Amino acid sequence: MTEQDIAPLAKRAETSTPLHEVIAARWSPRALDPDTEVTERQLRALLEAARWAPSRGNTQPARYLVGRRGEPTFDRILGTLERGNRNWAHRAGALLLAVAVTRNDKGEIPLYEYGVGLASQNLVLQAVAEGLVAHQMAGFDADAARREFGLPEHAQPLAAIAVGAQAEPESLDDDRLVQRERQPRSRHALGEIAFTNTWGEPAF
Ligand SMILES: Cc1cc2nc3c(=O)[nH]c(=O)nc-3n(C[C@H](O)[C@H](O)[C@H](O)COP(=O)(O)O)c2cc1C
Repeated sequence: MTEQDIAPLAKRAETSTPLHEVIAARWSPRALDPDTEVTERQLRALLEAARWAPSRGNTQPARYLVGRRGEPTFDRILGTLERGNRNWAHRAGALLLAVAVTRNDKGEIPLYEYGVGLASQNLVLQAVAEGLVAHQMAGFDADAARREFGLPEHAQPLAAIAVGAQAEPESLDDDRLVQRERQPRSRHALGEIAFTNTWGEPAF
């Protein structure tokens, strides 16, 4: 994959050493192309990637509700999003809802949120590998999602995910969103997140 493949706006991670292309290229755009479809095969690949994520004791707590644009499930997920997210996410090719199963027959699944996070990151990176982008959202109404999809008590919606083809920032109809889209990305320095010897002592 080249940088050209992830145009229009590449906001590659600035790293102190080269990373795998899908990790370096991934970011969370809001400008999505309303005409490009996420194909059945691509969607299947995203969910296979999620399925093969690791989890504590292989408890596999991640579940997904999935709808492609034009399908009723898409509109029903869209309807649960906060307005600020709905404003741009309606142009996605697919919308997903990441749900944790919090219990199995042995009791509470340990670290179920961690498990869904790992599965969703697999899904997001596979999207990048497919030439798509993915944007996760905590800004949605979990209770509405519960009602809308008849979730049982032991199923906890955690995040919505918009998947699609990236578009030019200027296609966003709100100037603040265009500005945000073009804002540089930032992260803690490596020395602030990786320690050795004692807490707080930079490993790098
Ligand atoms: C669990 C989670 C929830 C998020 N919720 C939202 C959201 O509701 N709306 C939004 O626009 N972005 C949301 N984001 C995107 C983050 O703001 C974004 O990942 C972060 O700023 C880092 O930027 P990057 O993904 O482009 O590297 C969320 C991301 C994650 C992982």
